[in-house]
Amino acid sequence: MKITVIHGQNHKGNTYMIAHELAEKIGGEVTEFFLPRDFDEPCLGCWTCFNKDLTHCPHYKKLKPLMDAMDEADVVILASPVYVYHATGQMMSFLDHFGTRWMVHRPDARAFQKQGVAIATAAGGGMASTTKDLYHSMFFWGYPRIYRMGFAVRAAKPSEIPEDIQKKIHQETDRMAAKIRKNHAPFKPTLKTRMWFSMIRWMHKAFWKFEPDYGYWEEHGWHGKNRPWKVKRKKRG
Ligand SMILES: Cc1cc2nc3c(=O)[nH]c(=O)nc-3n(C[C@H](O)[C@H](O)[C@H](O)COP(=O)(O)O)c2cc1C
Repeated sequence: MKITVIHGQNHKGNTYMIAHELAEKIGGEVTEFFLPRDFDEPCLGCWTCFNKDLTHCPHYKKLKPLMDAMDEADVVILASPVYVYHATGQMMSFLDHFGTRWMVHRPDARAFQKQGVAIATAAGGGMASTTKDLYHSMFFWGYPRIYRMGFAVRAAKPSEIPEDIQKKIHQETDRMAAKIRKNHAPFKPTLKTRMWFSMIRWMHKAFWKFEPDYGYWEEHGWHGKNRPWKVKRKKRG
């Protein structure tokens, strides 16, 4: 399996420890990026990605290695410490760059065959809102399987995490890795994805003919009967 991890911080602290441990336990080719070390640009709000294409984004050259690694991965892990109840600013800035990949605009069909994991650690609270920040992007990119892992570690660094919590973390990463290894493409979309897709399709056709999104959907046949999750299955034997 190809696994890409985007760390929402530069340092190797509590969140890194868990995300890295999970990636290693899943096993395969692991590629890791750290923010802001590997991508440090805030979205400029220039709308170039929406009006033209992501390749025209002023930050495209810096973004491309991370984007390619995510596009080629079977599993994408987005991990962030909780900063004031949400994902870190640098993680949110990174995710802003993929607004154009949201289902309503121009999703990449490969997204509909990926597993995603949202990981957050906090001293005490904010894991649910932080994993939700990460979940929202993965869901609207089209990921069919998204798992959330949040831990209140009661510590500023891994060596301070109480033993019982450490044990729980190791058990959870074991369980999650086994689940991810067992699940593999081709995936069927969830009911929630199908409902969102149908609603957007209807919206496009009824009143929202925003280009180049509309043309992109036409080109892929999504306004007709084709769907991004329909993949050609290999013939057996
Ligand atoms: C700027 C900042 C904001 C934080 N906000 C919260 C918070 O809202 N809730 C919380 O429980 N812990 C909060 N924490 C604590 C961290 O989320 C927690 O220690 C986390 O495990 C650190 O992960 P790391 O070692 O990967 O950086 C905050 C820490 C920092 C530095």
